[in-house]
Amino acid sequence: MKRLILFLSAALFLSSCCNKECSETSRQTASLAAVSGIKFSATTPNVKEGKRVLVVSSSPRPGGNTDLLADEFVRGAREAGGQVEKVFLADIQLDYLSEEGANKPHDVSRDSDTGRLVEQFLAADVVCLASPTYYMNVNDRMKAFIDATYLAWGDERMGNKEYYYITACAQNSDETAEWCLNGFRGFVMCMPNPTERGSVKAISMGRPGAVKGTDYMDQAYQLGLSINK
Ligand SMILES: Cc1cc2nc3c(=O)[nH]c(=O)nc-3n(C[C@H](O)[C@H](O)[C@H](O)COP(=O)(O)O)c2cc1C
Repeated sequence: MKRLILFLSAALFLSSCCNKECSETSRQTASLAAVSGIKFSATTPNVKEGKRVLVVSSSPRPGGNTDLLADEFVRGAREAGGQVEKVFLADIQLDYLSEEGANKPHDVSRDSDTGRLVEQFLAADVVCLASPTYYMNVNDRMKAFIDATYLAWGDERMGNKEYYYITACAQNSDETAEWCLNGFRGFVMCMPNPTERGSVKAISMGRPGAVKGTDYMDQAYQLGLSINK
């Protein structure tokens, strides 16, 4: 009993710290988004037939919340005439790039899963990044994908892409999801002339599949439909 009370007090203490931290940092989050320098546009700067769309889904669980949302985005983007490729990162052998050791950018073969994924990224006009929120950020696989694009650093095809973001988190907090979006933005702001087109922040989604039947599914579908609007 004593241990249970101790555990509950610790949990309460930690959760109050987190809430305080979250509200204090929300202002910083807003200003981070503002200084990222990524332009937002509700309409496409590049109307084009057969737009090439890459959807990167990084949840470890197929049929997880972000993966279901990514599928809805795919459905919309195909209806809008896009040539859509979806990569479920857990299905491929993704190298973790390093500046030392075996996975230095120049040592990663272009004929590997990582090399092919980076080529798909370079070829895309539109990129949809879907990651669960893990500790207020994108998850490990999404970060591995982001870092893998360093293989192509300096390639002019890195520029002029349109970006969509999808995340799901367990907390009932828009700020938590926004933190994850800032993880995406940290990457996107390093690309030449990117445009942010929209996002889905599915909150209160702890259970796999919890997103089914929610409005978030339609939001993701509508974003997909918007690739040429
Ligand atoms: C390692 C880990 C860290 C997580 N961190 C957070 C977090 O910081 N905030 C939150 O609200 N949910 C957090 N979650 C819960 C997930 O974001 C949530 O379950 C989400 O729906 C998972 O998406 P998926 O179904 O696409 O995998 C975390 C889950 C794991 C496994």
